[in-house]
Amino acid sequence: MRILSGIQPSGTLHLGNYFGMMQPSIDLQTKGEAFYFIADYHSMTSLFDAAERRKNSLDVALDFLACGLDPKKSVFFRQSDVPEVTELAWILTSLTPMSLLEKCTSYKDKVAKGIPVNHGLFAYPVLMAADILIYDSNIVPVGQDQKQHVEVTRDIAVKFNEAYGQTFVIPEPQIRGETAKVPGLDGEKMSKSYGNTLEIFGEEKPLRKKVMSIKMDSRMPEEPKPDADQNLAIQLLKLVAPAAVAADFENRLRVGGLGYGDLKKALFENYWNYFAEARKKRAELAADPAYVNGVLANGALKARALAQQVLKRARKASGLE
Ligand code: ADP
Ligand code: TRP
Repeated sequence: MRILSGIQPSGTLHLGNYFGMMQPSIDLQTKGEAFYFIADYHSMTSLFDAAERRKNSLDVALDFLACGLDPKKSVFFRQSDVPEVTELAWILTSLTPMSLLEKCTSYKDKVAKGIPVNHGLFAYPVLMAADILIYDSNIVPVGQDQKQHVEVTRDIAVKFNEAYGQTFVIPEPQIRGETAKVPGLDGEKMSKSYGNTLEIFGEEKPLRKKVMSIKMDSRMPEEPKPDADQNLAIQLLKLVAPAAVAADFENRLRVGGLGYGDLKKALFENYWNYFAEARKKRAELAADPAYVNGVLANGALKARALAQQVLKRARKASGLE
């Protein structure tokens, strides 16, 4: 079984990325042949600063390795080190109905928000389909917002197989129910583009300040809160604290007597401790960029060898060879 996922180097990684994609991917690396990559081509649709892309790509590599991606178990690489994927994207794009892309909500959301959109952003799911299909991937662990893109991939693969004969494996998205959509500090989906994130790694003081300034309602501490499970700090606490600790805070909030300040303090402490070990490892890795670049170069070699085989299969099937 082959598992594949990618993450864009378009900003600093946050709890949504961690619980939605990174942790499930890391857990899966012993369950099959895992391929994980830094989607730097995709980041070109929204980030137009070369130095920032370079820095973010290294940061994503450090974050992922610090959080437990093991290069002995997973193939870890930069998307653009396998340029074959762009050729496959062209082959696939010619089979992709406009209507399939026009209904993609992540694109429509950007249009609705008034973000200036480019053709890359529109064609984004086709490149993602190429990423998935070029490695004969079976399982794609992602957060809920990427499910539609994997469904588009399936449609494109079926179209290709119908037109040119059985060529591609049809992949399945894998989404963890409880962390499919991690809420941000404003209660909306946590996202780099909404400015509502809690970063995985960062300085203690500003992160504490961010947590302490989460907006709560004006009910008094002693008032019972029957909707305690809807409280944002409780929802986040459930991700980073031991289950019994989170249940205890939820209960204290429900019956009354727990102030929001104390709840937020507990959230910060648990969140800070949750990543303590990874933070240490990240500092060690950051001091050794040659090692990190070596991991990515080695991953690229393995990924590229497989991509070349699958691309050849598609070229032959479609009459390019
Ligand atoms: P962002 O919205 O911050 O730009 P990306 O689109 O780069 O995040 O997402 C990278 C991965 O993290 C994807 O698999 C995505 O589904 C997952 N992800 C992002 N935000 C969340 C969230 N709030 N909850 C769960 N998963 C998320
Ligand atoms: N679109 C994904 C995101 O923004 C990143 C991505 C690119 C990806 N190619 C992929 C994820 C292939 C899974 C499989 O999060």
